[in-house]
Amino acid sequence: MTLTYTVQPGGVLKGRVRVPGDKSISHRSIMLASIAEGVTRISGFLEGEDAIATMNAFRALGVRIDGPGRGDVTVHGVGLHGLKEPAATLDCGNAGTAMRLLAGLLAGQRFDSELTGDESLRRRPMKRVADPLNRMGARIETAEGGRPPLRVRGGRKLTGIDYAMPVASAQVKSALLFAGLYAEGRTCVTEPAPTRDHTERMLEAFGCAVEKKGRTACVRGGPRLRATTIEVPADISSAAFFLVGAAMVPGSDLTLEHVGMNPTRTGVIEILRLMGADLELRNERLAGGEPVADIRVRGAALRGAEIPPELVPLAIDEFPALFVAAANANGTTVVTGAEELRVKESDRIQVMADGLQALGAHAEPTRDGMRVTGGPYHGGQVSSHDDHRVAMAFAMAGLRASEAVTIKDCANVATSFPDFVGLAASAGLRITAG
Ligand code: S3P
Repeated sequence: MTLTYTVQPGGVLKGRVRVPGDKSISHRSIMLASIAEGVTRISGFLEGEDAIATMNAFRALGVRIDGPGRGDVTVHGVGLHGLKEPAATLDCGNAGTAMRLLAGLLAGQRFDSELTGDESLRRRPMKRVADPLNRMGARIETAEGGRPPLRVRGGRKLTGIDYAMPVASAQVKSALLFAGLYAEGRTCVTEPAPTRDHTERMLEAFGCAVEKKGRTACVRGGPRLRATTIEVPADISSAAFFLVGAAMVPGSDLTLEHVGMNPTRTGVIEILRLMGADLELRNERLAGGEPVADIRVRGAALRGAEIPPELVPLAIDEFPALFVAAANANGTTVVTGAEELRVKESDRIQVMADGLQALGAHAEPTRDGMRVTGGPYHGGQVSSHDDHRVAMAFAMAGLRASEAVTIKDCANVATSFPDFVGLAASAGLRITAG
């Protein structure tokens, strides 16, 4: 199915919106609830295609899961060793998180399994999980070039390792910690820079101790996970499009409700503040082990900034939106140390630079980032390259274009943000889809 967005310029974002549930937390909630003992109730679950792919994978692994209905899901956990051999290949759709985390979890099962995904996912690198898992004793075969599909052999004896990750990846870290639940002894993962820690937090919520020391996290094999309740906050990565849209339009005054504020995810707030955005955190509180807040954002004059590379992993999914903010700032924004953007749902450096240039904005891609100089730009047509975050970023770019912006291939927005169009329109974006 092809879907095209058209955005007319001139909108102003106002009011209060609650974006859908956090994708990272939604994936993990299904995975850990499935291998826990007892019934876990989840609220605020993301009813997007990525999280549904994970849910369907666990149903295929023999787990009874009720829902989702209005964000409520009930998972009847089968215990650490209760998963069943799936009858067919597990389809992760567009979701890298589903595939990489499942690889870790399936490495420790008694049965064989196979993981595949859509065209975009089948282009993404999987050796980063297969290699360290194989070092633990797993047997995971990739297709050519280290790409999916993945064939995971069961019945292997896993042994804990100490692994220093070459890339700052929460997906790799999580895959190893999941495999570590099935390994003999202790599995430790050290990251080169802090990445999202939802796996560690959620393991603890299910009663599994995680030893943390600096940038190292360790688990011991054979824990008992006990069912719990999980409240999924709104996804800061989905909120980011609205933060950027409102921040760059004078007169905007928008509040995003109940947004997850885990400090390993809030790089976008720090970067937008560096660029002069007017953001106010209100009502800060804890919900289900994760900090949340309402974020009020008002339009302000943005300025270009050099983005500190240490903030990159803390805002890794927000760069499509941040490049658009940079195109609307005075001066030049320089992003470095962000080569991981090239292996996301699309090559987000190339695709964003191409789209910004198509609109007449000044964007120069580099090996590991981009230089963007703000200024007026015109309308026109861009392609999202089937990347949900690219589509939503360019939708926000339409606010400040001089003519309409048309974005092709937007169907994948449903992977992370069902009803983006409805919610954005209700806030004041002049968007139509067809
Ligand atoms: C995710 C981690 C990030 C992020 C992805 C979700 C996760 O990927 O880009 O959207 O849920 O662990 P990497 O850890 O590979 O950078």
